Amino acid sequence: MSSGKTFKLDGKAISFEEGDTIMDAALRAGEYIPHLCHNPEFKPHGSCRVCVVDVNGHSMSACTRPAEQDIDVDNSSDAIMDLRRSLLQMLFVEGNHICPACEKSGACQLQAVAYYTRMLSPRFTHFFPRRSIDASHPDIVFYFNRCILCGLCERASRDVDGKNVFSISGRGINSKLVFNSPSGKLGDSELSVTDKAVSVCPVGALLPKHQGYEKPIGKRLYDTKPISVVGDAALYQSVNRSSKSSESNE
Ligand code: SF4
Ligand code: FES
Repeated sequence: MSSGKTFKLDGKAISFEEGDTIMDAALRAGEYIPHLCHNPEFKPHGSCRVCVVDVNGHSMSACTRPAEQDIDVDNSSDAIMDLRRSLLQMLFVEGNHICPACEKSGACQLQAVAYYTRMLSPRFTHFFPRRSIDASHPDIVFYFNRCILCGLCERASRDVDGKNVFSISGRGINSKLVFNSPSGKLGDSELSVTDKAVSVCPVGALLPKHQGYEKPIGKRLYDTKPISVVGDAALYQSVNRSSKSSESNE
């Protein structure tokens, strides 16, 4: 039964339940708020800030801000979209995101959200960090260049797989994902290609091997519909299907 409580999202009434965040209520109502570190299956992390909205004149992250009766949430003004674009532009220069050479192109949330916010050019100077690849695992490859430190693999490995394979270590620009294994290599960890952790990466950082180009460019998740229309359910179903097909090909 509905709680009868509502708030306004771009002028539209959105119902919410006690304990909902703005993101929870919006997604349930079929309204898209851009997000990267948020996945409805996990507790919010609040790190990427791409879900920034304006609540009664204050910028807040929709995935952590509790919904409240009668608040006015701006999810689409030019100012909010520009703020999101700057956050994305920072993410793009901080790593090496070479979309045309990435297996996840067309199914990458970072790329799709950048298109959604009409990010057409860089705003900041590229850092061009020198980061490695860990290909030590027989079934999984990890690109440090592409990791946006959203923490989803860490949460999935801990909360669903019960393995704790990942941690984020360091601060600021020196932050990086580390693997909990005797050698620090992914191949020495307990990670399996069927783990939830492998299917939640929103970018092309953590990928199953041998299937990167199975689906041709032009037929991928966001090639025909924008991320605002595709929604989260389709994204995770598509990733899970792809992990399952790799299992059946073994
Ligand atoms: Fe997020 Fe992927 Fe990096 Fe894990 S590997 S922190 S899921 S971007
Ligand atoms: Fe809300 Fe990342 S999606 S802070």
